[in-house]
Amino acid sequence: MDGGASIRLTAALEQIASEVDALFDALLPVPPDPRAQLYEAMRYASIGGGKRMRPLLVVAACSLFHVDRVRALRVGLAVECIHVYSLVHDDLPCMDDDDLRRGKPTLHKAFDECTAVLAGDSLHALAFEVLADEATHEDPFVRAELIAELARASGPSGMAGGQMMDLMAERTSLDLSAVTRLQQLKTGALIGFCLEAGGIMGRIHADGRRPLRGYARDVGLAFQIADDLLDAEGEEAKTGKRVGKDVGKGKETFVSLLGADRARQQANLLVDQAIQHLHSFGAEADLLRAVARFAVERDH
Ligand code: IPE
Ligand code: IPE
Ligand code: MG
Ligand code: MG
Ligand code: MG
Repeated sequence: MDGGASIRLTAALEQIASEVDALFDALLPVPPDPRAQLYEAMRYASIGGGKRMRPLLVVAACSLFHVDRVRALRVGLAVECIHVYSLVHDDLPCMDDDDLRRGKPTLHKAFDECTAVLAGDSLHALAFEVLADEATHEDPFVRAELIAELARASGPSGMAGGQMMDLMAERTSLDLSAVTRLQQLKTGALIGFCLEAGGIMGRIHADGRRPLRGYARDVGLAFQIADDLLDAEGEEAKTGKRVGKDVGKGKETFVSLLGADRARQQANLLVDQAIQHLHSFGAEADLLRAVARFAVERDH
């Protein structure tokens, strides 16, 4: 990425982070009753951390079609809700059993397991509550399409299905195509939603959404390869989470199957391919191009 693109991306990431924080803050006031701990836990998991790459993808995709930023941000927040919930549950002792996330103790360590399960459940629900609200889009058909797409990307055909395959990967040996499918569900489906949401909010016909789908497929896979590379070679001080977990659990990933060098090559190839999908767009897609590079060049 050249210097100018990198500076613009950093500014865009900072802006989206503060907007997402402010929206979570507004949506999650702590009530003066026994539910306070649940709200505190939701705030702990969702405010002040993470790269916010999914909300940025939503806003960048929406801006291609001149969608109002405040509305786009609500859709970005919805996908971030699902993402944060997936991380909270992913870190539980019954799954990856992690104690560090976004540079601080995981939610079940800072609170307890019951609260972490309920905070994940509640963030899951909040995503759909936000999408269903008129403030997201005045047309109920648009809202219904967003809800259906996010549900599909989150459930057994998407993230949760990929998480199931991922847990199985600790016990069975998978080949490259099985790992690719696993990653497409685990990480790719939610990233796919981010781009699809741009087309839905912009009321773009299915054909017109095709380049964004191609971009999302390649970026999603590249992003997860980078996550696996960071697990193998990254630094906890930068990633804000434990490293070396996949090898420790004997988990099959692109890195275990291809080795780090070839996995990195593959990720870079996918990014080039992702950017090629955007060839029909001009400078208005530069942010998406920069996010694609960032997906693999990041150190956190
Ligand atoms: C980590 O996602 C889990 C994966 C799906 C690879 P991110 O790397 O986007 O995590 P945050 O949101 O920045 O913490
Ligand atoms: C989790 O993948 C992806 C989710 C859907 C939550 P990982 O288990 O590799 O994510 P990290 O490395 O803990 O962030
Ligand atoms: Mg996991
Ligand atoms: Mg994990
Ligand atoms: Mg990982």
